[in-house]
Amino acid sequence: MQSFDFYNPVHIVFGQGRIADLATLVPANARVLVLYGGGSIKKNGTYDEVLAALKGHTVFEFAGIEPNPRYETLLKAVAQVKAEKIDFLLAVGGGSVVDGTKFVAAAAQYDGDAWDILTSGGAVVNSALPLGAVLTLPATGSEMNQGAVVTREATKTKLPFHTAKVFPKFAVLDPTKTYSLPPRQVANGAVDAFVHVVEQYLTYPTDAPVQDRFAESLLQTLIEVGPKALATPHDYQVRANLMWAATMALNGLIGAGVPQDWATHLVGHELTALYELDHAQTLAIVLPAMLQIRRADKRAKLVQYAERVWGIRDGSDDERIDAAITKTREFFEAMGVKTTLSDYGLGTDAVDAVVSQLEAHGMTTLGEKQDVTPAVSRRVLEAAL
Ligand code: NZQ
Ligand code: ZN
Repeated sequence: MQSFDFYNPVHIVFGQGRIADLATLVPANARVLVLYGGGSIKKNGTYDEVLAALKGHTVFEFAGIEPNPRYETLLKAVAQVKAEKIDFLLAVGGGSVVDGTKFVAAAAQYDGDAWDILTSGGAVVNSALPLGAVLTLPATGSEMNQGAVVTREATKTKLPFHTAKVFPKFAVLDPTKTYSLPPRQVANGAVDAFVHVVEQYLTYPTDAPVQDRFAESLLQTLIEVGPKALATPHDYQVRANLMWAATMALNGLIGAGVPQDWATHLVGHELTALYELDHAQTLAIVLPAMLQIRRADKRAKLVQYAERVWGIRDGSDDERIDAAITKTREFFEAMGVKTTLSDYGLGTDAVDAVVSQLEAHGMTTLGEKQDVTPAVSRRVLEAAL
């Protein structure tokens, strides 16, 4: 096992009806800005519950944070924060709203050009406004982590940043608030969480059985509950388990002390920035090809994954690896997320464009051994055609 720090201060408030707890979770004297997306929270009752819980507070609103939140939009929220002297941010929505709110929290207290926050990967952030989250879409883990991803529309640049300053103070997770999700977003969430686990698990062995077995249990849970969440959308236990699995997939626990990959995500971000594909769609395209092209480096963990996650015990190591990659692809397809570039109308032009963007953004040494060069990314994308 590698040396590590594990720090996660997020207070999780889980269960039906828990939005009412905002009354005490949000500091009493705060000037609160409630940030949300395109309106799903108004249709499913979340907005009303939030405002009812905050009726003793001073509340302002910022609506319209897009999926894949835009830098340009978030700067408007920063201006509002300054004008209204806001001192607490409450994100209500999916990962995009939580991520956008984290950026606003950091940018509101940053004196330089706010874009520095993204180009520095968060290194320039010394302070941030406190924030909380009410999550309506299990997927990203943003509610319990210190990362966020923001897209600059003008240059089609999608960049992540990380800093402990933007850990939410709390996150309210009410599984019933996910009942209204369209199937596409349920599927996206399960696939995103699955790939988060894979990026922290499917690297090379470091004798870390706690992390491995936590990761395997999350993968197995997602394989079990993902299809059920589509088939029976109002099953509380299914939604609760999907929600907790997605949070646990990216809250730092399973990644502590082990190598991490993230090449699939970083190649995927370029696909979203260029072609507006959903985040999870990009992962479903890239991951099976990534595993195939890098199978030699990942061999030992791929054999372990085949056996422990998919129960594949027959055949040679290569046959097991092939079967495990096929099972992975079939899981994504069964969730309704297509797995090739051509499924989304993209061809060789997209391969060239993504590789150029990776080079332009300095994404040239990806992966757990920093050996995923643009040439390797190209092979991966060609295998995903
Ligand atoms: O905008 P509204 O109207 O709220 O609609 C949203 C949006 O259209 C809708 N939605 C959310 N909750 C709903 C609902 N519709 C009905 N009922 C509900 N309960 O779903 C749509 C997608 O929402 P979004 O927040 O974009 O999805 P997701 O949670 O998948 O977030 C994706 C973003 O997170 C980033 C991605 O790159 C992407 O920008 N990620 C953030 C990470 C992190 N912070 O750690 C890690 C991830 O790898 C990921 O990169
Ligand atoms: Zn993701």
